[in-house]
Amino acid sequence: MCGIVGYIGKRDVVPILLDGLRRLEYRGYDSSGISALNKKQITTIKTVGKVKNLQHEINDTISSDQLSEFTVGIAHTRWATHGAPTEVNAHPHLDDSGKFAVVHNGIIENYVAIREQLNQKGHRFLSETDSEVIAHLIAECFDGDLAQAVAAALSKVEGTFGVAVIAVAEPSKMVVSRRGSPIVIGVGGREMLVASDVSALISYTKNVIYLHDNDLAVVTCDGVDLRSINNVPVSREIAKIDWDISAAEKGGYEHFMLKEIFEQPESLANAIRGRMDESIGTAILSGLRFTPKEMIEISRVTLAACGTSMHAGMVAEYFFEDLANLPASVEQAAEFRYRNPIIEPNTLVVAISQSGETADTLAAVREAKQKGAVVTGLCNVVGATIARETGRGIYLHAGPEIGVASTKAFTSQVAVMLMMALKLGRSRRLSVEDGISLVHEINKIPELIRATLAHSEEIKSIAEKYASAENFFYIGRGYLYPVALEGALKLKEISYIHAEGYHAAELKHGPIALLEEAVPVVALANDIAGKEKIIGNMQECCARKSPVIAVATEGDDSIDNHANDVIRVPASSKFTTPITTAVALQLFSYYVANKRGCEIDQPRNLAKSVTVE
Ligand code: M6R
Repeated sequence: MCGIVGYIGKRDVVPILLDGLRRLEYRGYDSSGISALNKKQITTIKTVGKVKNLQHEINDTISSDQLSEFTVGIAHTRWATHGAPTEVNAHPHLDDSGKFAVVHNGIIENYVAIREQLNQKGHRFLSETDSEVIAHLIAECFDGDLAQAVAAALSKVEGTFGVAVIAVAEPSKMVVSRRGSPIVIGVGGREMLVASDVSALISYTKNVIYLHDNDLAVVTCDGVDLRSINNVPVSREIAKIDWDISAAEKGGYEHFMLKEIFEQPESLANAIRGRMDESIGTAILSGLRFTPKEMIEISRVTLAACGTSMHAGMVAEYFFEDLANLPASVEQAAEFRYRNPIIEPNTLVVAISQSGETADTLAAVREAKQKGAVVTGLCNVVGATIARETGRGIYLHAGPEIGVASTKAFTSQVAVMLMMALKLGRSRRLSVEDGISLVHEINKIPELIRATLAHSEEIKSIAEKYASAENFFYIGRGYLYPVALEGALKLKEISYIHAEGYHAAELKHGPIALLEEAVPVVALANDIAGKEKIIGNMQECCARKSPVIAVATEGDDSIDNHANDVIRVPASSKFTTPITTAVALQLFSYYVANKRGCEIDQPRNLAKSVTVE
């Protein structure tokens, strides 16, 4: 949610910290700060707002001579949980002596009790945050060895953390640790970086070590000493990041979101490549690690996810039922462990998460494992906690998704679950011929997306026409019902327009009361099953004077008389229509938000990865 970056090594510390923060800004961004250490003291600067404010403050207060003296530093971008976004609540936090500085992601659940105990010992707290207790606890536990003090402090806290710590007493090291919040170490030549997300360090090194929960690492410019918080040595492999820094840059587009929308022919090709076996009409998904016997034994699919990933799961419900004849249901991950879900012996649980770090989805994974389910993960971020904890699953290979609004991850999730359903279907009722024909359809997806993107200018002019509306409805049926939900979510998160997604048939059970001239309805009227019925629903909207914007299939003019404007997508089967339609709606939201002058890549109040409940 928030972002952490740290650096120790041969280069100037502060520019690297600032560069890392800028790359992490998409994770959380109401305030930011750095602490850097020369041989004598820690200098800390914090500001509210964007990282550029921090940059200005640093330029104004630290001379270039001072800058070159720093040996190590840590930095943070914050997305407020405990305490308002103020300078004092921003990280890093220091103890009373100012000799220990800490940046923290996660939530310390017992911070009130710890704070009271430390207050009684004379500690004085400046902020309203839970995180500040960590700095004070470390100071309290310090007895000449920073790593031991950090371990001792963390053993007293309950909750989740990814932390990076520096101390005046040990100016040539950083100590980092994690439980529930990611920390990755970038291994360079005589320099080391730490971050909560590889995008902060990829410009410097592609060799990384992903910490596991309860790992603690002492990082110097020459190496990494790894152990558990309980001081048991552990060893972790050095992994290689397989994407380039250019993937995390805008590449000439005005916004990351637009770039990511236009990247979808490639991201989908990457999701599909090497995973289709045309000869027998099935998918090769070796990461699932199912034996044929295990495949056939699966009796139910439960999909757990949040937000856009949950909408992808809702599309997949249809895939699993139609193609594999398997009962499938989506669980809102946040409810999963509180509902006592029924997991039968052969239930396959699919945790869907772009980031692989969403707290609620991770909790669902743990609950499902506890209940004996076969749990798989569908993640985009390689090495993410959900990918590791499930141990089996499928990566999306969509490349880094920087825009807070998820776009290319959604379409890849849908495509990958279509492949999963194909594979499960082929182990059941789906014939070789039907399998082969679906393989052909899946292979066509990148081309279909190219054809959808070719309509971007028309979509832009329709979007701009409606950009001043303050309320929208999105309606769909069947395969396109979840896409209506996703379209509405996309619009509200980046344009701040109130938008509701509904099953088209539900409209008349209440929401229709809200329809009037000022409330446009986006109706998903593609030429697949259910079209005639949605035309009826569009007429109901027109009768209430709501302008109707239809999404319809190229060449199908039966829609034109029932809509004020029509967005065209290429003809495709019901299985791939959710993908083309979602792309058209992503463009629509983008152009509405851009016309309204919104901060598209970093919408207010949102963070890319929600690592708190
Ligand atoms: O990383 P995840 O896929 O687990 O994230 C789930 C949601 O937080 C995420 O999809 C969110 O809804 C996006 N902002 C939607 O654009």
